[in-house]
Amino acid sequence: MAIRLPSAWKDELLARTDIVSVVSSYVTLKKDGRRYWGLCPFHNEKTPSFSVNADLNMYYCFGCKATGDAIKFVMEMERAPFMDAVKLLADRAHMALPELQEDPDYERRRSQRERLYNANRDAARYYHDMLWKPEGKAALDYLHGRGLTDGVIRRFGLGASTNQWDGLTNYLTEKGYTREELNLAGLTVVKGENAFDMFRSRAMFPIIDQYNHVLGFGGRAMQKDAKPKYLNTSDTPVFNKRKGVYAINLIRKNRDLKRIILVEGYMDVVAISQAGVTGAVATLGTALTNEQARLLGRYAPEVFLCYDGDEAGQHAIERGLDILEAEHVPCRVIYLPDGLDPDEFIRQRGLEAFEAIRPMRPVAYRMQRLRLQYDLKSPDGPAEYAKKCAELLRTVRDPVDLENYLEALSVQTGFSRDVLLAQVGTQIEANGAQATPLLPPKAQPVRERRVREPEGYKTEQTLLALLASGRLPRDMVKEADFFSETLRLIAGRLIAGETPDAIVADEDLTDDARQAAGEAFSRLTGTEIDNAAEVAGDCLRKLRIQYLTQEMNKLKETMRTLESNEQKTQMLTEIQELTRELDQLKQQGR
Ligand code: UTP
Ligand code: MN
Repeated sequence: MAIRLPSAWKDELLARTDIVSVVSSYVTLKKDGRRYWGLCPFHNEKTPSFSVNADLNMYYCFGCKATGDAIKFVMEMERAPFMDAVKLLADRAHMALPELQEDPDYERRRSQRERLYNANRDAARYYHDMLWKPEGKAALDYLHGRGLTDGVIRRFGLGASTNQWDGLTNYLTEKGYTREELNLAGLTVVKGENAFDMFRSRAMFPIIDQYNHVLGFGGRAMQKDAKPKYLNTSDTPVFNKRKGVYAINLIRKNRDLKRIILVEGYMDVVAISQAGVTGAVATLGTALTNEQARLLGRYAPEVFLCYDGDEAGQHAIERGLDILEAEHVPCRVIYLPDGLDPDEFIRQRGLEAFEAIRPMRPVAYRMQRLRLQYDLKSPDGPAEYAKKCAELLRTVRDPVDLENYLEALSVQTGFSRDVLLAQVGTQIEANGAQATPLLPPKAQPVRERRVREPEGYKTEQTLLALLASGRLPRDMVKEADFFSETLRLIAGRLIAGETPDAIVADEDLTDDARQAAGEAFSRLTGTEIDNAAEVAGDCLRKLRIQYLTQEMNKLKETMRTLESNEQKTQMLTEIQELTRELDQLKQQGR
Protein backbone atom coordinates (compact mmCIF):
# COMPACT_ATOMS: atom_id res chain seq x y z
CA MET A 1 0.00 0.00 0.00
CA ALA A 2 2.42 2.62 1.18
CA ILE A 3 4.48 4.26 -1.50
CA ARG A 4 8.08 3.40 -0.80
CA LEU A 5 10.14 6.41 0.12
CA PRO A 6 13.91 6.11 0.14
CA SER A 7 14.36 4.57 3.57
CA ALA A 8 17.22 6.87 4.54
CA TRP A 9 14.99 9.84 3.82
CA LYS A 10 12.13 8.42 5.81
CA ASP A 11 14.45 7.63 8.71
CA GLU A 12 15.68 11.21 8.69
CA LEU A 13 12.14 12.52 8.65
CA LEU A 14 11.23 10.41 11.66
CA ALA A 15 14.45 11.32 13.44
CA ARG A 16 13.76 15.01 12.90
CA THR A 17 10.16 14.63 13.99
CA ASP A 18 9.47 14.91 17.68
CA ILE A 19 6.54 12.55 18.14
CA VAL A 20 5.68 14.11 21.48
CA SER A 21 5.18 17.50 19.90
CA VAL A 22 3.25 16.04 16.95
CA VAL A 23 0.87 14.20 19.27
CA SER A 24 0.66 17.23 21.54
CA SER A 25 -0.92 19.27 18.82
CA TYR A 26 -3.93 16.95 19.07
CA VAL A 27 -3.80 15.46 22.57
CA THR A 28 -2.86 16.96 25.92
CA LEU A 29 0.02 14.90 27.24
CA LYS A 30 1.46 14.58 30.73
CA LYS A 31 4.97 13.37 31.36
CA ASP A 32 5.49 10.45 33.70
CA GLY A 33 8.99 9.07 33.84
CA ARG A 34 10.04 8.37 30.29
CA ARG A 35 6.55 8.14 28.91
CA TYR A 36 3.85 10.66 28.16
CA TRP A 37 0.20 9.91 28.81
CA GLY A 38 -3.04 11.34 27.51
CA LEU A 39 -6.64 10.54 26.66
CA CYS A 40 -6.67 8.33 23.59
CA PRO A 41 -7.89 10.18 20.51
CA PHE A 42 -8.97 6.92 18.88
CA HIS A 43 -11.51 5.76 21.40
CA ASN A 44 -13.61 7.30 24.14
CA GLU A 45 -12.10 7.16 27.58
CA LYS A 46 -12.02 9.09 30.82
CA THR A 47 -8.65 7.99 32.21
CA PRO A 48 -5.54 8.18 30.04
CA SER A 49 -4.32 4.92 28.56
CA PHE A 50 -2.65 6.46 25.54
CA SER A 51 1.12 6.48 25.87
CA VAL A 52 3.79 8.17 23.80
CA ASN A 53 7.33 6.97 24.03
CA ALA A 54 9.86 9.62 23.02
CA ASP A 55 12.82 7.23 23.18
CA LEU A 56 11.28 4.81 20.73
CA ASN A 57 9.38 7.41 18.65
CA MET A 58 6.10 5.57 18.95
CA TYR A 59 2.69 5.59 20.58
CA TYR A 60 0.56 2.82 22.03
CA CYS A 61 -2.88 2.83 23.60
CA PHE A 62 -3.39 0.28 26.38
CA GLY A 63 -7.14 0.61 25.83
CA CYS A 64 -7.67 0.14 22.11
CA LYS A 65 -4.16 -1.02 21.16
CA ALA A 66 -3.71 1.66 18.53
CA THR A 67 -0.01 1.89 17.82
CA GLY A 68 2.46 3.31 15.34
CA ASP A 69 4.99 5.99 14.57
CA ALA A 70 4.49 9.70 13.90
CA ILE A 71 3.43 9.11 10.30
CA LYS A 72 0.84 6.56 11.28
CA PHE A 73 -0.46 8.87 13.98
CA VAL A 74 -1.01 11.69 11.50
CA MET A 75 -2.61 9.29 9.01
CA GLU A 76 -5.07 8.17 11.66
CA MET A 77 -5.79 11.62 13.06
CA GLU A 78 -6.20 13.28 9.70
CA ARG A 79 -7.50 10.16 8.01
CA ALA A 80 -4.92 11.04 5.44
CA PRO A 81 -3.20 8.75 2.97
CA PHE A 82 0.42 7.86 3.69
CA MET A 83 1.98 10.44 1.36
CA ASP A 84 -0.19 13.28 2.70
CA ALA A 85 0.91 12.50 6.23
CA VAL A 86 4.52 12.36 5.11
CA LYS A 87 4.18 15.74 3.36
CA LEU A 88 2.65 17.27 6.44
CA LEU A 89 5.45 16.05 8.68
CA ALA A 90 8.09 16.98 6.12
CA ASP A 91 6.73 20.52 6.01
CA ARG A 92 6.90 20.65 9.78
CA ALA A 93 10.46 19.39 9.82
CA HIS A 94 11.40 21.75 6.97
CA MET A 95 12.49 18.80 4.86
CA ALA A 96 12.03 18.70 1.11
CA LEU A 97 10.39 15.56 -0.26
CA PRO A 98 12.97 13.27 -1.89
CA GLU A 99 12.03 14.27 -5.42
CA LEU A 100 12.33 17.94 -4.44
CA GLN A 101 15.55 17.67 -2.52
CA GLU A 102 17.60 18.61 -5.55
CA ASP A 103 15.29 21.55 -6.24
CA PRO A 104 16.99 24.78 -5.13
CA ASP A 105 13.64 26.51 -5.21
CA TYR A 106 12.02 24.22 -2.64
CA GLU A 107 12.83 26.18 0.48
CA ARG A 108 11.72 29.46 -1.09
CA ARG A 109 8.36 27.99 -2.04
CA ARG A 110 7.89 26.29 1.30
CA SER A 111 8.46 29.48 3.22
CA GLN A 112 6.34 31.42 0.76
CA ARG A 113 3.45 29.05 1.35
CA GLU A 114 3.85 29.51 5.08
CA ARG A 115 3.77 33.31 4.63
CA LEU A 116 0.60 33.06 2.57
CA TYR A 117 -1.10 30.88 5.17
CA ASN A 118 -0.20 33.42 7.81
CA ALA A 119 -1.37 36.36 5.71
CA ASN A 120 -4.71 34.63 5.20
CA ARG A 121 -5.03 33.86 8.88
CA ASP A 122 -4.27 37.47 9.79
CA ALA A 123 -6.79 38.60 7.19
CA ALA A 124 -9.45 36.31 8.64
CA ARG A 125 -8.84 37.76 12.11
CA TYR A 126 -8.99 41.28 10.72
CA TYR A 127 -12.31 40.65 8.94
CA HIS A 128 -13.74 38.95 11.98
CA ASP A 129 -12.71 41.81 14.28
CA MET A 130 -14.23 44.34 11.86
CA LEU A 131 -17.58 42.68 12.25
CA TRP A 132 -17.89 44.00 15.79
CA LYS A 133 -16.79 47.53 14.90
CA PRO A 134 -18.88 50.36 13.47
CA GLU A 135 -17.27 49.88 10.03
CA GLY A 136 -18.48 46.31 9.96
CA LYS A 137 -21.97 46.98 11.17
CA ALA A 138 -23.53 46.62 7.72
CA ALA A 139 -22.11 43.09 7.41
CA LEU A 140 -23.14 42.13 10.93
CA ASP A 141 -26.64 43.41 10.25
CA TYR A 142 -26.67 41.48 7.02
CA LEU A 143 -25.67 38.21 8.72
CA HIS A 144 -28.15 38.76 11.54
CA GLY A 145 -30.76 39.54 8.90
CA ARG A 146 -30.06 36.12 7.40
CA GLY A 147 -30.91 34.61 10.74
CA LEU A 148 -27.39 33.86 11.99
CA THR A 149 -26.56 34.08 15.68
CA ASP A 150 -23.32 35.49 17.08
CA GLY A 151 -22.43 31.98 18.19
CA VAL A 152 -22.47 30.52 14.71
CA ILE A 153 -20.79 33.63 13.30
CA ARG A 154 -17.90 32.98 15.70
CA ARG A 155 -17.81 29.27 15.06
CA PHE A 156 -17.36 29.81 11.34
CA GLY A 157 -15.15 32.86 11.85
CA LEU A 158 -17.31 34.99 9.57
CA GLY A 159 -16.23 38.56 9.01
CA ALA A 160 -16.71 41.90 7.33
CA SER A 161 -14.77 43.56 4.56
CA THR A 162 -15.54 47.26 4.81
CA ASN A 163 -16.07 49.86 2.13
CA GLN A 164 -12.59 51.27 2.70
CA TRP A 165 -10.33 50.81 -0.34
CA ASP A 166 -7.24 49.58 1.37
CA GLY A 167 -8.04 48.77 4.99
CA LEU A 168 -6.78 45.20 4.95
CA THR A 169 -3.88 45.96 2.62
CA ASN A 170 -2.59 48.65 4.98
CA TYR A 171 -3.10 46.50 8.02
CA LEU A 172 -1.19 43.56 6.58
CA THR A 173 1.55 45.74 5.11
CA GLU A 174 2.14 47.13 8.56
CA LYS A 175 2.40 43.58 9.83
CA GLY A 176 5.31 43.07 7.45
CA TYR A 177 3.76 41.36 4.43
CA THR A 178 4.91 42.61 1.06
CA ARG A 179 2.58 43.80 -1.66
CA GLU A 180 3.69 40.91 -3.75
CA GLU A 181 2.74 38.42 -1.05
CA LEU A 182 -0.66 40.00 -0.52
CA ASN A 183 -1.25 39.97 -4.24
CA LEU A 184 -0.21 36.32 -4.46
CA ALA A 185 -2.56 35.46 -1.61
CA GLY A 186 -5.42 37.04 -3.53
CA LEU A 187 -6.05 39.55 -0.75
CA THR A 188 -4.83 42.65 -2.57
CA VAL A 189 -5.14 43.84 -6.12
CA VAL A 190 -2.04 45.66 -7.35
CA LYS A 191 -2.44 48.06 -10.26
CA GLY A 192 0.69 49.97 -11.10
CA GLU A 193 1.48 52.14 -8.09
CA ASN A 194 -1.81 51.39 -6.39
CA ALA A 195 -2.81 48.53 -4.18
CA PHE A 196 -6.32 48.01 -2.91
CA ASP A 197 -8.29 45.31 -1.14
CA MET A 198 -9.72 42.49 -3.20
CA PHE A 199 -12.80 42.26 -1.00
CA ARG A 200 -14.86 45.30 -0.13
CA SER A 201 -18.28 45.66 1.46
CA ARG A 202 -18.89 41.96 1.71
CA ALA A 203 -19.77 39.46 4.39
CA MET A 204 -16.71 37.22 4.56
CA PHE A 205 -16.57 33.43 4.79
CA PRO A 206 -13.02 32.19 5.50
CA ILE A 207 -12.15 28.92 3.81
CA ILE A 208 -10.14 26.75 6.16
CA ASP A 209 -8.64 23.38 5.30
CA GLN A 210 -8.54 20.18 7.34
CA TYR A 211 -5.20 21.20 8.83
CA ASN A 212 -6.59 24.54 9.99
CA HIS A 213 -4.81 26.63 7.38
CA VAL A 214 -6.84 29.61 6.19
CA LEU A 215 -6.65 29.31 2.40
CA GLY A 216 -8.89 32.06 1.09
CA PHE A 217 -12.35 33.60 1.29
CA GLY A 218 -15.78 33.73 -0.17
CA GLY A 219 -17.33 37.18 0.08
CA ARG A 220 -21.11 37.68 -0.12
CA ALA A 221 -22.29 40.98 -1.55
CA MET A 222 -24.84 42.64 0.67
CA GLN A 223 -26.93 44.53 -1.88
CA LYS A 224 -29.58 42.53 -3.57
CA ASP A 225 -28.38 42.73 -7.15
CA ALA A 226 -24.67 43.29 -6.65
CA LYS A 227 -22.51 41.28 -9.02
CA PRO A 228 -20.95 38.90 -8.43
CA LYS A 229 -23.12 37.68 -5.59
CA TYR A 230 -20.17 35.76 -4.19
CA LEU A 231 -16.61 36.81 -4.88
CA ASN A 232 -14.14 34.02 -4.20
CA THR A 233 -10.38 33.98 -3.85
CA SER A 234 -9.05 32.82 -7.18
CA ASP A 235 -6.46 30.06 -7.18
CA THR A 236 -3.24 30.92 -5.35
CA PRO A 237 -0.15 28.93 -4.35
CA VAL A 238 -2.12 27.77 -1.28
CA PHE A 239 -5.67 27.67 -2.58
CA ASN A 240 -7.20 25.46 -5.22
CA LYS A 241 -10.96 25.61 -5.44
CA ARG A 242 -11.09 22.19 -7.07
CA LYS A 243 -9.39 20.57 -4.08
CA GLY A 244 -10.75 22.40 -1.09
CA VAL A 245 -14.03 21.87 0.71
CA TYR A 246 -15.75 24.52 2.80
CA ALA A 247 -16.07 23.66 6.51
CA ILE A 248 -13.91 20.53 6.29
CA ASN A 249 -12.02 21.95 9.30
CA LEU A 250 -15.14 21.51 11.40
CA ILE A 251 -16.11 18.01 10.36
CA ARG A 252 -12.69 16.45 10.72
CA LYS A 253 -12.94 16.88 14.46
CA ASN A 254 -16.03 14.70 14.59
CA ARG A 255 -14.72 11.16 14.49
CA ASP A 256 -18.12 9.54 14.86
CA LEU A 257 -19.70 11.32 11.93
CA LYS A 258 -22.15 8.95 10.21
CA ARG A 259 -22.56 10.97 7.04
CA ILE A 260 -21.46 14.19 5.43
CA ILE A 261 -24.10 16.48 3.97
CA LEU A 262 -22.76 18.19 0.88
CA VAL A 263 -24.61 21.39 -0.02
CA GLU A 264 -23.99 24.03 -2.68
CA GLY A 265 -23.43 27.22 -0.74
CA TYR A 266 -21.44 28.65 2.13
CA MET A 267 -24.61 30.12 3.56
CA ASP A 268 -26.34 26.75 3.43
CA VAL A 269 -23.54 25.18 5.48
CA VAL A 270 -23.65 27.88 8.13
CA ALA A 271 -27.44 28.04 8.32
CA ILE A 272 -28.09 24.33 8.62
CA SER A 273 -25.22 23.94 11.09
CA GLN A 274 -26.83 26.59 13.24
CA ALA A 275 -30.09 24.66 13.09
CA GLY A 276 -28.29 21.63 14.50
CA VAL A 277 -27.36 19.57 11.43
CA THR A 278 -23.85 18.14 11.80
CA GLY A 279 -21.45 17.30 9.02
CA ALA A 280 -22.42 19.98 6.50
CA VAL A 281 -19.83 21.05 3.91
CA ALA A 282 -19.87 22.72 0.50
CA THR A 283 -17.72 22.88 -2.58
CA LEU A 284 -16.27 26.26 -3.44
CA GLY A 285 -18.51 27.47 -6.22
CA THR A 286 -17.64 24.67 -8.63
CA ALA A 287 -19.09 21.26 -9.38
CA LEU A 288 -17.83 18.43 -7.18
CA THR A 289 -14.44 17.11 -8.33
CA ASN A 290 -12.92 13.67 -7.92
CA GLU A 291 -10.37 15.05 -5.49
CA GLN A 292 -13.06 16.53 -3.30
CA ALA A 293 -15.04 13.29 -3.41
CA ARG A 294 -12.00 11.36 -2.22
CA LEU A 295 -11.39 13.87 0.54
CA LEU A 296 -14.98 13.57 1.76
CA GLY A 297 -14.75 9.79 1.65
CA ARG A 298 -12.07 9.98 4.32
CA TYR A 299 -14.24 11.65 6.91
CA ALA A 300 -17.48 9.69 6.98
CA PRO A 301 -18.83 6.38 5.71
CA GLU A 302 -21.40 8.09 3.49
CA VAL A 303 -22.03 11.38 1.68
CA PHE A 304 -25.52 12.82 1.25
CA LEU A 305 -25.94 15.26 -1.61
CA CYS A 306 -28.32 18.03 -0.67
CA TYR A 307 -28.28 20.57 -3.46
CA ASP A 308 -30.79 23.27 -4.29
CA GLY A 309 -34.21 22.02 -5.32
CA ASP A 310 -34.06 23.92 -8.62
CA GLU A 311 -33.25 22.31 -11.97
CA ALA A 312 -29.59 23.38 -11.86
CA GLY A 313 -29.18 21.84 -8.44
CA GLN A 314 -30.88 18.61 -9.46
CA HIS A 315 -28.71 18.32 -12.52
CA ALA A 316 -25.63 18.90 -10.36
CA ILE A 317 -26.76 16.07 -8.08
CA GLU A 318 -26.62 13.61 -10.97
CA ARG A 319 -23.09 14.72 -11.82
CA GLY A 320 -22.15 14.58 -8.14
CA LEU A 321 -23.43 11.01 -7.84
CA ASP A 322 -21.36 10.02 -10.88
CA ILE A 323 -18.24 11.42 -9.27
CA LEU A 324 -18.85 9.92 -5.83
CA GLU A 325 -19.64 6.53 -7.30
CA ALA A 326 -16.54 6.66 -9.47
CA GLU A 327 -14.54 7.24 -6.30
CA HIS A 328 -16.39 4.43 -4.50
CA VAL A 329 -17.81 6.79 -1.90
CA PRO A 330 -21.22 5.50 -0.76
CA CYS A 331 -23.75 8.26 -1.37
CA ARG A 332 -27.41 9.20 -1.26
CA VAL A 333 -29.56 12.19 -2.11
CA ILE A 334 -31.57 14.44 0.13
CA TYR A 335 -34.12 15.81 -2.26
CA LEU A 336 -35.49 19.24 -1.37
CA PRO A 337 -38.93 20.06 -2.73
CA ASP A 338 -40.28 23.25 -4.26
CA GLY A 339 -36.94 24.55 -5.52
CA LEU A 340 -35.78 25.42 -2.01
CA ASP A 341 -32.15 25.48 -0.99
CA PRO A 342 -31.13 23.90 2.34
CA ASP A 343 -30.95 27.26 4.08
CA GLU A 344 -34.44 28.24 2.96
CA PHE A 345 -35.87 24.80 3.67
CA ILE A 346 -34.65 24.65 7.21
CA ARG A 347 -35.70 28.20 7.96
CA GLN A 348 -39.17 27.74 6.54
CA ARG A 349 -39.90 24.21 7.69
CA GLY A 350 -37.55 23.51 10.56
CA LEU A 351 -34.96 20.96 11.55
CA GLU A 352 -37.46 18.17 12.12
CA ALA A 353 -38.83 18.42 8.61
CA PHE A 354 -35.28 18.37 7.27
CA GLU A 355 -34.38 15.29 9.26
CA ALA A 356 -37.59 13.59 8.19
CA ILE A 357 -36.53 13.63 4.54
CA ARG A 358 -35.53 10.11 3.65
CA PRO A 359 -32.26 10.03 1.76
CA MET A 360 -32.73 8.38 -1.64
CA ARG A 361 -30.44 5.76 -3.11
CA PRO A 362 -28.73 6.88 -6.30
CA VAL A 363 -30.77 4.47 -8.43
CA ALA A 364 -34.07 5.65 -7.00
CA TYR A 365 -33.03 9.24 -7.50
CA ARG A 366 -31.97 8.66 -11.08
CA MET A 367 -35.26 6.90 -11.83
CA GLN A 368 -37.09 9.88 -10.42
CA ARG A 369 -35.08 12.18 -12.69
CA LEU A 370 -35.71 9.99 -15.74
CA ARG A 371 -39.40 9.99 -14.99
CA LEU A 372 -39.48 13.75 -15.73
CA GLN A 373 -38.10 13.22 -19.22
CA TYR A 374 -40.83 10.92 -20.48
CA ASP A 375 -44.51 11.43 -21.02
CA LEU A 376 -46.01 8.20 -19.78
CA LYS A 377 -49.30 9.06 -21.45
CA SER A 378 -47.77 9.11 -24.92
CA PRO A 379 -47.76 5.81 -26.89
CA ASP A 380 -44.00 5.18 -26.68
CA GLY A 381 -43.39 6.91 -23.35
CA PRO A 382 -43.76 3.96 -20.99
CA ALA A 383 -41.59 1.64 -23.11
CA GLU A 384 -38.79 4.16 -23.52
CA TYR A 385 -38.86 5.07 -19.86
CA ALA A 386 -38.88 1.40 -18.85
CA LYS A 387 -35.87 0.64 -21.03
CA LYS A 388 -33.87 3.50 -19.60
CA CYS A 389 -34.70 2.43 -16.06
CA ALA A 390 -33.79 -1.16 -16.85
CA GLU A 391 -30.30 0.04 -17.75
CA LEU A 392 -30.02 1.67 -14.36
CA LEU A 393 -31.29 -1.40 -12.57
CA ARG A 394 -28.46 -3.51 -13.96
CA THR A 395 -26.22 -2.01 -11.32
CA VAL A 396 -28.47 -3.09 -8.44
CA ARG A 397 -27.01 -6.13 -6.79
CA ASP A 398 -29.28 -6.59 -3.83
CA PRO A 399 -32.18 -8.85 -4.92
CA VAL A 400 -34.64 -7.31 -2.46
CA ASP A 401 -33.82 -3.81 -3.63
CA LEU A 402 -34.15 -4.91 -7.23
CA GLU A 403 -37.55 -6.41 -6.51
CA ASN A 404 -38.73 -3.14 -4.99
CA TYR A 405 -37.55 -1.09 -7.93
CA LEU A 406 -39.14 -3.50 -10.39
CA GLU A 407 -42.44 -3.30 -8.59
CA ALA A 408 -42.43 0.48 -8.58
CA LEU A 409 -41.51 0.54 -12.25
CA SER A 410 -44.25 -1.95 -13.04
CA VAL A 411 -46.85 0.26 -11.39
CA GLN A 412 -45.60 3.29 -13.29
CA THR A 413 -45.36 1.73 -16.72
CA GLY A 414 -47.89 -1.11 -16.71
CA PHE A 415 -45.30 -3.69 -17.78
CA SER A 416 -45.23 -6.82 -15.70
CA ARG A 417 -42.43 -7.38 -13.25
CA ASP A 418 -41.19 -10.38 -15.28
CA VAL A 419 -41.00 -8.46 -18.51
CA LEU A 420 -39.10 -5.71 -16.78
CA LEU A 421 -36.74 -8.23 -15.22
CA ALA A 422 -36.10 -9.72 -18.63
CA GLN A 423 -35.27 -6.25 -19.87
CA VAL A 424 -32.85 -5.74 -17.02
CA GLY A 425 -31.19 -8.95 -18.13
CA THR A 426 -30.88 -12.15 -16.27
CA GLN A 427 -27.15 -12.06 -15.81
CA ILE A 428 -27.12 -9.77 -12.85
CA GLU A 429 -24.37 -11.86 -11.37
CA ALA A 430 -22.26 -10.92 -14.36
CA ASN A 431 -22.26 -7.45 -12.91
CA GLY A 432 -21.05 -8.80 -9.61
CA ALA A 433 -17.50 -7.79 -10.38
CA GLN A 434 -18.23 -4.18 -9.50
CA ALA A 435 -15.87 -2.60 -7.05
CA THR A 436 -17.10 -2.74 -3.51
CA PRO A 437 -17.38 0.62 -1.79
CA LEU A 438 -14.31 1.65 0.10
CA LEU A 439 -15.14 2.56 3.64
CA PRO A 440 -12.96 5.08 5.40
CA PRO A 441 -10.67 3.82 8.10
CA LYS A 442 -12.68 3.07 11.18
CA ALA A 443 -11.53 3.83 14.66
CA GLN A 444 -10.12 0.60 16.01
CA PRO A 445 -12.62 -1.31 18.06
CA VAL A 446 -11.92 -1.40 21.73
CA ARG A 447 -11.43 -4.93 22.87
CA GLU A 448 -12.64 -5.28 26.41
CA ARG A 449 -11.55 -8.76 27.13
CA ARG A 450 -8.25 -10.26 26.22
CA VAL A 451 -7.33 -13.87 25.95
CA ARG A 452 -5.57 -14.89 29.13
CA GLU A 453 -1.85 -14.31 28.79
CA PRO A 454 0.22 -17.44 28.54
CA GLU A 455 2.60 -18.13 31.41
CA GLY A 456 5.67 -15.93 31.33
CA TYR A 457 4.25 -13.58 28.70
CA LYS A 458 4.96 -10.49 30.78
CA THR A 459 8.56 -11.59 31.17
CA GLU A 460 8.85 -12.04 27.42
CA GLN A 461 7.39 -8.59 26.88
CA THR A 462 9.89 -7.01 29.21
CA LEU A 463 12.73 -8.84 27.50
CA LEU A 464 11.50 -7.72 24.08
CA ALA A 465 11.16 -4.13 25.23
CA LEU A 466 14.70 -4.16 26.63
CA LEU A 467 15.91 -5.51 23.32
CA ALA A 468 14.06 -2.68 21.60
CA SER A 469 15.59 -0.09 23.90
CA GLY A 470 19.00 -0.81 22.39
CA ARG A 471 20.59 -0.95 25.83
CA LEU A 472 21.53 -4.61 25.89
CA PRO A 473 24.90 -6.09 24.98
CA ARG A 474 24.95 -7.54 21.49
CA ASP A 475 23.87 -11.18 21.21
CA MET A 476 22.50 -11.26 24.75
CA VAL A 477 18.98 -12.04 23.53
CA LYS A 478 18.14 -14.49 20.75
CA GLU A 479 14.93 -15.22 18.90
CA ALA A 480 14.82 -18.65 20.43
CA ASP A 481 14.49 -17.15 23.90
CA PHE A 482 10.83 -16.33 23.22
CA PHE A 483 7.91 -18.75 23.55
CA SER A 484 5.34 -16.53 21.86
CA GLU A 485 5.53 -16.88 18.12
CA THR A 486 4.61 -13.26 17.58
CA LEU A 487 7.16 -11.92 20.02
CA ARG A 488 9.77 -14.21 18.54
CA LEU A 489 9.07 -12.78 15.10
CA ILE A 490 9.39 -9.24 16.41
CA ALA A 491 12.59 -10.10 18.25
CA GLY A 492 13.97 -11.42 14.98
CA ARG A 493 13.26 -8.12 13.29
CA LEU A 494 14.84 -6.12 16.09
CA ILE A 495 17.93 -8.30 16.03
CA ALA A 496 18.10 -7.80 12.26
CA GLY A 497 18.33 -4.07 12.92
CA GLU A 498 14.78 -2.83 12.40
CA THR A 499 13.74 0.01 14.67
CA PRO A 500 10.79 -0.33 17.06
CA ASP A 501 8.86 2.55 15.48
CA ALA A 502 9.23 0.98 12.04
CA ILE A 503 7.84 -2.28 13.38
CA VAL A 504 4.73 -0.81 15.00
CA ALA A 505 4.00 1.18 11.84
CA ASP A 506 4.70 -1.65 9.41
CA GLU A 507 1.60 -2.17 7.27
CA ASP A 508 2.91 -5.52 6.13
CA LEU A 509 2.59 -6.94 9.63
CA THR A 510 -0.77 -8.10 10.95
CA ASP A 511 -2.54 -5.75 13.36
CA ASP A 512 -2.13 -8.36 16.08
CA ALA A 513 1.63 -8.41 15.62
CA ARG A 514 1.92 -4.62 15.52
CA GLN A 515 -0.22 -4.32 18.62
CA ALA A 516 1.71 -7.02 20.45
CA ALA A 517 4.91 -5.14 19.64
CA GLY A 518 3.41 -1.80 20.65
CA GLU A 519 2.20 -3.20 23.94
CA ALA A 520 5.51 -4.85 24.79
CA PHE A 521 7.57 -1.80 23.86
CA SER A 522 5.37 0.47 25.92
CA ARG A 523 5.48 -1.47 29.16
CA LEU A 524 8.98 -0.65 30.29
CA THR A 525 9.43 1.49 33.36
CA GLY A 526 12.33 3.87 33.86
CA THR A 527 14.02 1.64 36.44
CA GLU A 528 13.91 -1.33 34.11
CA ILE A 529 15.61 0.71 31.40
CA ASP A 530 18.25 2.03 33.79
CA ASN A 531 19.19 -1.52 34.77
CA ALA A 532 18.62 -3.01 31.35
CA ALA A 533 21.21 -5.76 31.29
CA GLU A 534 20.47 -6.92 34.81
CA VAL A 535 16.72 -7.02 34.26
CA ALA A 536 17.18 -8.82 30.94
CA GLY A 537 19.40 -11.40 32.62
CA ASP A 538 16.66 -11.97 35.13
CA CYS A 539 14.06 -12.39 32.38
CA LEU A 540 16.22 -14.86 30.51
CA ARG A 541 16.69 -16.90 33.65
CA LYS A 542 12.97 -16.98 34.37
CA LEU A 543 12.17 -18.01 30.84
CA ARG A 544 14.83 -20.70 30.94
CA ILE A 545 13.35 -22.04 34.19
CA GLN A 546 9.96 -22.07 32.58
CA TYR A 547 11.34 -23.91 29.57
CA LEU A 548 13.18 -26.50 31.64
CA THR A 549 10.16 -27.10 33.84
CA GLN A 550 8.04 -27.74 30.80
CA GLU A 551 10.63 -30.15 29.40
CA MET A 552 10.82 -31.93 32.70
CA ASN A 553 7.08 -32.39 32.86
CA LYS A 554 7.13 -33.79 29.36
CA LEU A 555 9.82 -36.28 30.33
CA LYS A 556 7.93 -37.38 33.40
CA GLU A 557 4.86 -37.89 31.28
CA THR A 558 6.76 -40.02 28.78
CA MET A 559 8.39 -42.02 31.50
CA ARG A 560 5.05 -43.34 32.69
CA THR A 561 4.45 -44.90 29.31
CA LEU A 562 7.83 -46.60 29.10
CA GLU A 563 8.09 -50.37 29.43
CA SER A 564 11.77 -51.27 29.44
CA ASN A 565 13.87 -50.58 32.50
CA GLU A 566 16.78 -49.59 30.37
CA GLN A 567 14.82 -46.77 28.80
CA LYS A 568 13.56 -45.70 32.19
CA THR A 569 17.05 -45.44 33.59
CA GLN A 570 18.18 -43.33 30.68
CA MET A 571 15.27 -41.00 31.15
CA LEU A 572 15.92 -40.68 34.85
CA THR A 573 19.43 -39.49 34.08
CA GLU A 574 18.03 -36.84 31.80
CA ILE A 575 15.59 -35.74 34.45
CA GLN A 576 18.37 -35.51 36.98
CA GLU A 577 20.39 -33.30 34.68
CA LEU A 578 17.47 -31.01 34.17
CA THR A 579 16.85 -30.85 37.88
CA ARG A 580 20.44 -29.87 38.49
CA GLU A 581 20.30 -27.07 35.95
CA LEU A 582 17.00 -25.89 37.35
CA ASP A 583 18.34 -25.83 40.90
CA GLN A 584 21.32 -23.83 39.77
CA LEU A 585 19.14 -21.29 37.99
CA LYS A 586 16.91 -20.97 41.00
CA GLN A 587 19.95 -20.48 43.24
CA GLN A 588 21.11 -17.60 41.03
CA GLY A 589 17.80 -15.94 41.49
CA ARG A 590 18.23 -15.62 45.24
P1 UTP B 1 -26.13 30.19 -4.70
O1 UTP B 1 -26.39 31.24 -5.71
O2 UTP B 1 -26.99 28.98 -4.65
O3 UTP B 1 -26.11 30.95 -3.37
O4 UTP B 1 -24.62 29.75 -4.84
P2 UTP B 1 -26.71 30.62 -1.95
O5 UTP B 1 -25.85 29.67 -1.25
O6 UTP B 1 -28.14 30.37 -1.98
O7 UTP B 1 -26.38 32.03 -1.33
P3 UTP B 1 -27.35 33.05 -0.71
O8 UTP B 1 -28.27 32.24 0.13
O9 UTP B 1 -28.02 33.76 -1.82
O10 UTP B 1 -26.42 33.93 0.06
C1 UTP B 1 -24.09 28.63 -4.22
C2 UTP B 1 -22.60 28.75 -4.19
O11 UTP B 1 -22.10 29.02 -5.48
C3 UTP B 1 -21.00 29.89 -5.44
C4 UTP B 1 -20.74 30.13 -3.97
O12 UTP B 1 -19.79 29.21 -3.51
C5 UTP B 1 -22.08 29.89 -3.34
O13 UTP B 1 -21.95 29.55 -1.99
N1 UTP B 1 -21.26 31.17 -6.12
C6 UTP B 1 -22.52 31.62 -6.31
C7 UTP B 1 -20.20 31.91 -6.52
O14 UTP B 1 -19.06 31.49 -6.36
N2 UTP B 1 -20.41 33.11 -7.13
C8 UTP B 1 -21.65 33.60 -7.32
O15 UTP B 1 -21.78 34.71 -7.85
C9 UTP B 1 -22.72 32.84 -6.91
MN1 MN C 1 -29.49 30.57 -0.44
